[in-house]
Amino acid sequence: MSFGKLGAALTAREIQSLVAGDLEKAEAFITDECVGSVEQISEIARYLHSAGGKRIRPTLLLLSTRLFREPDTQAIQLAAVVEMIHAATLVHDDVIDMATTRRGRPSANVIWGNHASVLAGDWMYMQAFQVALRQRNFHVLDVLISLTQMMVEGELIQLQRIGRIDVSETDYMELIDRKTAALFSACARLGSIAGGADEAQEQRLSEFAWNLGMAFQLVDDLLDFTSREKILGKPVGNDLQEGKVTLPLIYALEDATPAERQLVETVLRDGNYSRVPLSRIQDLIKDKRGIDRARERAQGFTDRARHLIATFPESRYQAAMAAVTDLVTERDR
Ligand code: IPE
Ligand code: IPE
Ligand code: MG
Ligand code: MG
Repeated sequence: MSFGKLGAALTAREIQSLVAGDLEKAEAFITDECVGSVEQISEIARYLHSAGGKRIRPTLLLLSTRLFREPDTQAIQLAAVVEMIHAATLVHDDVIDMATTRRGRPSANVIWGNHASVLAGDWMYMQAFQVALRQRNFHVLDVLISLTQMMVEGELIQLQRIGRIDVSETDYMELIDRKTAALFSACARLGSIAGGADEAQEQRLSEFAWNLGMAFQLVDDLLDFTSREKILGKPVGNDLQEGKVTLPLIYALEDATPAERQLVETVLRDGNYSRVPLSRIQDLIKDKRGIDRARERAQGFTDRARHLIATFPESRYQAAMAAVTDLVTERDR
C-alpha cells in the first residue's frame, strides 16, 4: 500500500508493516484462486491483480481483526475475498465507464473487450463467493451478498444519472455510500467477525470504516480534478467526461452563473474537453471553492471515524487505524 505524500503520525509503510505478513498470505491466496479452467479468465484475473493497487480494503479488514486477535486462515481468506470483489467491481466499472486506464495500465476492457471483461468480472465475483462459502458462515455470506447487491444498485443508479447536471448533494452522498463506503464498512465488519468481536464492537468498527469509505470516495472525486494521471494511474478530469457530476462540481454549480453552467453542460454533452478545456472547469471549481468545500466534507467523515476508533483500547493496531484516516484525506493517488 502506498498513498504517496504523507504527513500522518504513522506512515503508510509503517501501517502496512503491521499487516505485511498477513497481506502477503492473502496475496498468495488470491494468486492461487485466480485460476479458472478457461485460460482467458485466469489471464484477466491475474492481469489486474498483478498491476498493484493500494490494497486498502484487505489492510482495513486485517487491522480490524488484529484489534482483537492475530488473523487466522479465515481472516486471511476474507482479506483475499474483499480484494477479489473489489477487483471484479473495477473490471465491470471500467466496462460501464468505457475507461481506458486502470492502475496505470490499459484497462481489461481495452485489451480483451467488453464481453470477455464482463464475464471475467462475473467469474471473479463468483470465485470470491466460493472462497467465502467454504467458511460455512451465514453471517459472512449475509454481509457479502447484501454488499454486492448494494454496489450493483449503486452502479445502476450512477448509470441512470450519467450526463445529468442536476445531481444534488444528497443524491451524491447516497451514491458514494453504495459505491464505496459499503465495501469499506463490510471489510471492518468481516475483520471483526474473524477477530471474534462482540456485536457492539462489530457495529462500531463498521461505522468507523463506513465514514472512512465516504471520505475515500470524496477524495477520489476531488483528486479527479486536482491530481495528475502519472500519480493517479487513471486520467484526470475523467469523471465529468464520463458524465459524472461529483461533489466539487455540485458545490461549484451552486454558485455558478448561467454562462458557467453552460460550460459544464457542454462537456457533459460532448463527453470530452475539446470545446471547453479541462483547465477552465478546474478553475471554475477552484474559484467557487468546490475543492475546499468537498475536502471539508471529507474531513468531517474522517473526524467521525477518528472519534469512533478512539473508543477502542489503545494498541498499535488501533493507532494504525487512526492514522489511516489521515492517509485517506492526505493521499495523492
Ligand atoms: C478505486 O479504488 C475505486 C474507488 C472506490 C474510488 P482504489 O483507489 O482503492 O483502487 P486501487 O485498488 O488502489 O487500484
Ligand atoms: C468506482 O467508482 C467505484 C466502484 C465501486 C467500482 P469510480 O468510477 O468513480 O471509480 P474510478 O474513478 O473508475 O476508479
Ligand atoms: Mg470508473
Ligand atoms: Mg473516480
